[in-house]
Amino acid sequence: MADLSVKISNTIFKNPIFVASGTFGYGTENPELVDVSKLGAIVTKSITLNPREGNPPPRIVETHSGMINSIGLANIGVEKYISDMLPVYENMDTPIIMNIAGSSMREYIDVMKKVEDVSSNIVGYEINISCPNVKEGGMEFGVDCDMTEKLTSELRKLTDRLLIMKLSPNVTDISAIAISSENGGADAVSAINTVVGMSINHSSQFSNIYTTFGGLSGPAIKPVGLACVHKVYHRVNIPIIGIGGIVNSDDVIEYFLAGSCSVQVGTANFRNPGITEIILHDLNNYLNEKHIDSISSLIGRVKTHG
Ligand code: SIN
Repeated sequence: MADLSVKISNTIFKNPIFVASGTFGYGTENPELVDVSKLGAIVTKSITLNPREGNPPPRIVETHSGMINSIGLANIGVEKYISDMLPVYENMDTPIIMNIAGSSMREYIDVMKKVEDVSSNIVGYEINISCPNVKEGGMEFGVDCDMTEKLTSELRKLTDRLLIMKLSPNVTDISAIAISSENGGADAVSAINTVVGMSINHSSQFSNIYTTFGGLSGPAIKPVGLACVHKVYHRVNIPIIGIGGIVNSDDVIEYFLAGSCSVQVGTANFRNPGITEIILHDLNNYLNEKHIDSISSLIGRVKTHG
């Protein structure tokens, strides 16, 4: 049996297949559809200080090989998250990574402080500095090195749990933002969030998304995700969690070769909520057939021609 376990800072995950924020609710909704105990980890949807309705519909549209969303960070807010979700996690043996979003540095800090003030078994935080669908905050942090480093270091002071910064591909140089995250004390970065996109109905001549622009995800962005991971891999010493268009075990292997130490499956969950079980099964078979002892031995091993 190949060793599928992966290590991020001091935390060991039983396998590298995580589910991505925004594609698996709060991690408590899918028990009959998916055996969540098989997942490496669940990353929750983004939680903000106050509840949010999100953007008006239409806010999701399918595209060639992907989808565009502009949900606008709809969520129940941190108080309800603490009262309703944290107790449920106590009975789950799947590691939970809470995703936090904010419209200001104060908001990110306040959300994390509230969670740190109560007892819970969450293993870490993924900080959303890359949402393209809100007017304030979100991507504003993830496109600016100084703001990224400052936010990371402020949050680092608040927690000993895993601190993961989720990076945007909608920047000139993603590795500069990754370096700022590392300098601020992040344990890891996730790459990538969605790529800004647009979809138009030629017949009605309307934009298919209320906010005109949204975030493109799914197989259409896999090459962008691989390139971002590989660029970041050469510039930082912290682990990278690869995200973007993963639908099968071959995609996982490719993300490892590019430099990821684990991956998140996102949009594919909407098509088949049980896809992660299939990916895990096939990944195991692949490694055994190729006599690869440990998935971690593949990290960054892509052969380039230069
Ligand atoms: C959204 O809620 O609009 C999507 C979240 C994200 O892209 O980070």
